[in-house]
Amino acid sequence: MESIKIFCPATIANISCGFDVLGVALESVGDEMVIRKVPQKGIFITKLVGQDLPMDTENNVAGVAGLALLAESDYEGGFEIEINKKIKAGSGIGSSAASSSGAVWGMNQLLGEPFPAIKLVQFAMEGERLASGVAHADNVAPALFGGFTLVRSYEPLDIVPINSPSELYASVIHPQIEVKTSDSRKILKTNITLKDGIRQWGNVGGLIAGLFTEDYDLIGRSLVDHIVEPIRSILIPGFDEVKAKSLEAGALGCGISGSGPSIFAFSKGALTAEKVTLEMSKVYQDFAIDYDVHTSKINTQGIKTLTQ
Ligand code: HSE
Repeated sequence: MESIKIFCPATIANISCGFDVLGVALESVGDEMVIRKVPQKGIFITKLVGQDLPMDTENNVAGVAGLALLAESDYEGGFEIEINKKIKAGSGIGSSAASSSGAVWGMNQLLGEPFPAIKLVQFAMEGERLASGVAHADNVAPALFGGFTLVRSYEPLDIVPINSPSELYASVIHPQIEVKTSDSRKILKTNITLKDGIRQWGNVGGLIAGLFTEDYDLIGRSLVDHIVEPIRSILIPGFDEVKAKSLEAGALGCGISGSGPSIFAFSKGALTAEKVTLEMSKVYQDFAIDYDVHTSKINTQGIKTLTQ
């Protein structure tokens, strides 16, 4: 195989209570990439449409992730990468993770899959380091594995795939305001109280149990964040209103997607999710802030081949 065209899903990281450890892949929104073997050693971003992002390898998340893979490979050649960005950069739904995971997943396919998924997560994390200053795995893991994932440990890296309940849908709204991941990490406190810790890990455990047992009420009760959301939500105008309206419309829970500014809600069933998405939209219409919305099933496959 000399070239591959792939779909790289958007992802919601943190999922309220699981800062830097929980994430989930979406089905209805994602980037497309074409990756091609070339004889010259190196990674070459030859086309990048949809977003205004750097194309030089060292400043492109797909480029640095690809270089991390090449550094551990005995392959003598290189790769050309074309990226069709459909996920807006800085939206909070894993734009950088889609590109960095897509690059290493596609390269691994073209090389005959020499690297296991956990190594691909490590390579893709180098893209996250470039994008946000921190090599977090909570977007790249679900992009690569599909469904929900838990980063049980960073040292050593240990990714646990979590069940995706069949009737679970996500609503996502992206208000067109800029919140940089690096900035929204800087404002977080570096210490938490034991009281907040107890409440938070109770919810993480509850969410994981709810996802495995497909207990939608338990999922909803567990979508609570006592640590990050109270600080970051200040950066997102309309957050409290979107959350209140989503819950009123029947959402199980609602929170900040990744580092924001996107806001996500989970619902049981497509109809409720569509209603929630509509109510979210009305809030930003009232605020006269432009927005994008997505209503999506959970993507249980992760990155997939479109054509070879
Ligand atoms: N866990 C990361 C953060 C995700 O919240 O900063 C960034 O998309």
